[in-house]
Amino acid sequence: MTAVADRSLGPELARTVDIGADTDVLVVGIVTTDDGPAIVPGPALAGETDFEDVLSADARAVLESQLRAVGAKGKGEELTRLPGPTGLGASSVLAVGLGAPDAVDAEQIRRSAGAAGRALSGTGLAVSTLSGLDLGAAAEGFYLGAYTFTEFKSGKSAPKPAEQPLRRVELLVPDPAFGEEDLFRAQAIAEAVATARDFVNTPPSHLFPAEFADRARSLAEAAGLEVEVLDENELAAQGFGGILGVGKGSSRPPRLVRISYSGGAENPRVALIGKGITFDTGGISIKPAANMDHMTSDMAGAAAVVATVLLAARLNLPLSVIATVPMAENMPSDTAQRPGDVLTQYGGTTVEVLNTDAEGRLILADAIVRASQDDPGYLIDVATLTGAQMVALGTRTPGVMGTDEFRDRVARISQGVGENAWPMPLPAELRGDLNSSIADLANVAPHRWGGMLSAGLFLKEFVPADVQWAHLDVAGPAYNTGGAFGYIGKGGTGVPVRTLIAVLEDIAGR
Ligand code: BES
Ligand code: MN
Ligand code: ZN
Repeated sequence: MTAVADRSLGPELARTVDIGADTDVLVVGIVTTDDGPAIVPGPALAGETDFEDVLSADARAVLESQLRAVGAKGKGEELTRLPGPTGLGASSVLAVGLGAPDAVDAEQIRRSAGAAGRALSGTGLAVSTLSGLDLGAAAEGFYLGAYTFTEFKSGKSAPKPAEQPLRRVELLVPDPAFGEEDLFRAQAIAEAVATARDFVNTPPSHLFPAEFADRARSLAEAAGLEVEVLDENELAAQGFGGILGVGKGSSRPPRLVRISYSGGAENPRVALIGKGITFDTGGISIKPAANMDHMTSDMAGAAAVVATVLLAARLNLPLSVIATVPMAENMPSDTAQRPGDVLTQYGGTTVEVLNTDAEGRLILADAIVRASQDDPGYLIDVATLTGAQMVALGTRTPGVMGTDEFRDRVARISQGVGENAWPMPLPAELRGDLNSSIADLANVAPHRWGGMLSAGLFLKEFVPADVQWAHLDVAGPAYNTGGAFGYIGKGGTGVPVRTLIAVLEDIAGR
């Protein structure tokens, strides 16, 4: 078994007060001004410190005039490489655009650092002044931008030295003690995002329910957390009809993983639930061939909640988090469930399965009922649930549904960390379309209008009325099928790990 924890997930991050002798690149931020690009922190945008002893006023002036000469503007994520001026200590300088000075926020810093991190493949040591604007955001951006997934690149296709990810980033700080906690938190968060990305990027040939459960278990046990894994026999004995129904078409049987972190019995309890379909063919209601490979990402919700419960423990948050993670492979076969079958969810609700491709809600319903037995104050489920999410919001904006107040709180927090979830309604008039003529519920409506909301309404049936609930549909945002941008490369993005941890911190009062 591959231990995900042993892999190097990104560059080593450190604080420094100087440019070391072996520095290859100094990364500086630049903003657009009427007089051309200006290096920041500096007169155009003040920060914690402008590191004048490292980057002298003379060196700045030289760099700014060279930037003007080569046509640099300072637009967001624009990259300009220059030779290091004499006396600087770094052989080259990478200027990364931050856009207009009045629009520079943590997310812009993260994105620009991410673009720099991506561009610095083949670099041993980079030092950056972006930490003078926001140490944590710069650290997260560099780390996530430099993330690569090369486990299956062998022989001739293995990364050449010039393509190796950036190995070490030193972030300049005003004194050696500055920002220790900020960097620890940023690194922990970035590593959790990378863990989620690794899970998503691991192909379905190698990550099937039992293997996913094993990997989650070993990460959780290494972190000292309590883990329980139910196999197909235990799932059957306890009546998890949704997970079993979805999993029964596959020769690789389903699992239910539970990981508990207790941060004080008197503190709030939060249930996290993540959709773990290791591959979604659609089942008998089979998907078209084009882009079906994207369904390797259908366990991104599970990946995010596993990474988040580990992260909550690492950050020692004063609350309890229990992750409940159903895992199954949705395959067509002679043992698969059929359109028209009726299954009994955990807890007794019967569901007519009119479309076997609406499988996520079936495994989530079981998990929601199980998670509710712990009597959590908050319940957050995360799923690559509907193509309709992308029709409504595009590929980068998660939809968040649930109880009004908590839904809005989660959306606000998500926007604050740059993952940008947007609140969506659960219109009562759509609920009747999920009525079945023979069972308690149908798993799909007889039309496609408001598909994301309809899926949310299905889940709502299983959530206790007194729980603060948020449902995040991340079908598009969890997996980038387009080109790289900011700190996001191709493939798994790690969304919504940063939203989840920020929500947990908010609930914990941090
Ligand atoms: N895993 C898919 C949703 C999805 C689509 C995620 C595209 C990522 C990218 C989900 O299981 C699914 O197939 N949903 C159906 C629901 C429909 C049958 C009501 C869909 O969106 O088409
Ligand atoms: Mn499906
Ligand atoms: Zn699916």
